[in-house]
Order: sequence, then C-alpha cells, then structure tokens
Amino acid sequence: MSQERVNFGSKLGMILATAGSAVGLGNVWRFPYMTGQNGGAAFILIYIACVLVLGIPCMMNEFIIGRHGAANTGRAYGEMGTAKAWRLVGCMSVLTGFIITSYYAVVSGWCMQYIFASAFGELNGNPQYITQYFQEFSASPIRPVFWTVAILALTHFVIIHGVRSGIERASKMMMPTLFVLLVVVVIGSCMLPGAGKGVEFLLRPDFSKMDSSVFLAAMGQSFYSLSIGMGCICTFASYFSRKANLMKSAVNIVAIDSLIAILAGLMIFPAAFSVGINPDSGPSLIFITLPNVFKEAFATMPIIGTVIAIMFYVLLSLAALTSLISLHEVSTAFFYEELHTTRKKAATLVTVSLCVLGALCSLSIGGRDWLVIGGKSLFDLFDFVTGQIMLPIAGFLTCIFMGWVVPRQTVKDEFTNWGTLRSTLFGVYILLIRYVCPVCIVAIFLNQFGII
Ligand code: PFF
Repeated sequence: MSQERVNFGSKLGMILATAGSAVGLGNVWRFPYMTGQNGGAAFILIYIACVLVLGIPCMMNEFIIGRHGAANTGRAYGEMGTAKAWRLVGCMSVLTGFIITSYYAVVSGWCMQYIFASAFGELNGNPQYITQYFQEFSASPIRPVFWTVAILALTHFVIIHGVRSGIERASKMMMPTLFVLLVVVVIGSCMLPGAGKGVEFLLRPDFSKMDSSVFLAAMGQSFYSLSIGMGCICTFASYFSRKANLMKSAVNIVAIDSLIAILAGLMIFPAAFSVGINPDSGPSLIFITLPNVFKEAFATMPIIGTVIAIMFYVLLSLAALTSLISLHEVSTAFFYEELHTTRKKAATLVTVSLCVLGALCSLSIGGRDWLVIGGKSLFDLFDFVTGQIMLPIAGFLTCIFMGWVVPRQTVKDEFTNWGTLRSTLFGVYILLIRYVCPVCIVAIFLNQFGII
C-alpha cells in the first residue's frame, strides 16, 4: 500500500500545531508555582536561560531527525545514516509518548468535567466540600472514565482528519481561542482588589533563593514544558516542509510556550493573593485551590465568577487537547507506517488501546489494589516512569546520537536548509548538544533521585 506523506500547509499552522503540543497543563499547574517559590522574576530569567541552552538545542535535535527521516519517530531515528540500532531510541520515545497519553487523557478529562461542574454550580460550597468533591469524583469508577474516553474520542476525531484538515486546522482554531481566554481571565484576575501583591510575588526578582536546586528545577521544567523526549516534536517535524527555517521555528515555539506560562502565572497569583489563599501546584491547584479562589474572589459577583471559572476550564481543556493530539499522533504515525495500514485504522487501534489504559489509570486512583504496583497507583507509576526515567534517557541518548554519531554534514544540511540559511549558530548548537545538554540532563536525572 503506498502511503503518501502530507506536510503542514502553512508556516502558521506548523508553528501553532507544535506550540499546541508544548502548551499544556505543565504551563498552568507547574510553571507559575515554581516561579513563585523560586524567586519570581529571577526564576523566569533562569528558566529562559535553560530554554535557550537546553530546550532549543534539544528541540532542534528532534526537528532535524523528524524532518530528515520524514517518517514516524521510531523509523526516523534509523534514517540518519547510522547503525539501525538507534531506531530503538526513537521507538522508546514513541512508547513514552503512548504511556504519557493514557494518564494525560485522564487529567484532561477532569478539566472537561469541571467545565460542566462550574456551569451547573456543582462547585459551590465551602473548601472542605470542594476538596471532597474532587477526591470523590477522581476516585469514582464511572464519571472520570467517561470523560477520559470522551476526550480521547475528540482527539481521535481530529487525528482521523489527517495532518492538514485535522491537526493543523484544529490548532489554528484552538490556539488563538486559548490565548484570548487566557488574556480575559488574566485581566479579570488582575482587576481584583489586592491583586498587585500577586503580580509582585510572581515578578519581583529575589536572587537570594538561587541555588543549584532552582537551576535543576528550571531545567526539568523546560524539558517537560517543551514536550521533548516523547516523540511529539519529532513526529510533527516529519510534516515540516523542506523550506521551514528550523531554528526560527524553535525560537517562535519556545517564545509562545514561555509567554503562555508567564500569563498563566498572572492568571493564578493575583486572584489567589487577592483572597489570601496560597497557591500550590499540580492537580490540587487546578481542581481544589482555584475553585475556592474563584468562589471567594467573585463572591459579590457570582455570575462573573462562574463565567471566569468556565473560561478557565475551557482554556485548560484546550491546552490539554492540543497536547493530547500531538501525543496521539506519535503513536498513530508509528502504527500507520509500521503496520502499513490506513490512517484511520492506525488511529482506531491507538484510541481503543488508550481508552483501556486510560480507564485503568483512572480506576487506579480509587486505591483499587489490583491497580497498585510497588506502592504506586498505575497513574502515579506511569507519571514517574515516563517523566523521571524514560524522558531523560531519551533526551540524553538523542543528544549523544546527534552530537557524536550522526554524520556532521547531515546535521548541518538540515540546520542550514542545505546551505541556504546562515550557519552562524551551528557551532554553538553542536557544542551544546555534545557537552552541555548531556551533562545537564544527567544532573536533572540524578537530582530527582536525591543523588546530587
Ligand atoms: N508540554 C506539555 C505541558 O507543558 O503540559 C505536556 C506534555 C505534552 C508532555 C506532550 C508530554 C507530551 F508528550
């Protein structure tokens, strides 16, 4: 069966789709909190440095492998003119992406449920009630599974329409919507009485907090936030045109991702400070703390509070959905090309297996013994194994591969579009992926296990 490969139809579509992969829950539930805790603007500066030194080069690695191979991530690693065994690293990224999708879909499903919960006033109650609501909902056997399947069905719908009419078109609609919603909620949050203290907390540089753990935290966050090491960037790059300027695209995507993360901070901190609630991170921030914040902050204007809450969960769902689409595409492209089947069949295989795995992840949260492995629920286990083990290993091996194994000319040709673009930064890029990035990734890896 001949399988035609499609490219993104426009530069904007390509940038928005890839930025959609990067912009996700990580921007909203991790970045603001880390910034607040680690020295405000000082952390943002360090984060930007990490993104420049670590994020952009690692993104370039995946861009180059993906576009050069013009194939799914597994195969693309084998197309770089080196030993075919390097394919295994690509396959590992595909597997990482697949596992991440299953639990990411569960959390994305929660965001969808909270759109309706806000609209129907289900979150009106005291703080204990809101905590209990989340605990009971996330551990229940039916509703979260329903939402997991629902968001995967939406993802499936986009994916089966293909790269241009599905992924690109959806990204062109969803990313601007997400941005507008975000700006509206930021304005709402910053207009609350006492909001200035939140802005100050987020943006005032405090260099006294700087130590090695802050650097390591910033490095880890830049990696996760840019969706590096799980095949997303590489798969999307396989749809880039030969004319795309890879370096410029990487800079644009990183700028969009960082801007949205900072705006998310300006959405959360001013509102939380205005009502004197301490923001935290992770699921409890968006499903427990923020519903309380919205309720308190807009106590005198409940309708506005409800509208803001709905907008917030819609924007979260959009952010999650664009990331899910890219994650799903990693596996779909893999099965499509490796099994020589149709795109629709490949997508169906991926969706059905993800529904099963996602349902198991969701059920594992209720403490069902058969879904607890080594003291961790399946949900936590997947998060741990992918985020802390597989992702750094894939990132590290990719740097070694590109820096030391792939013929330099192949890399340079892609970097400079076969000599048509300036190669001023090429030397810097090589230096970073040969020495700096591998060392940083090893440091992040060891640090999270408390070794350094
Ligand atoms: N980069 C996304 C975020 O910041 O939320 C998360 C993510 C997307 C992780 C895609 C992994 C992935 F493959």
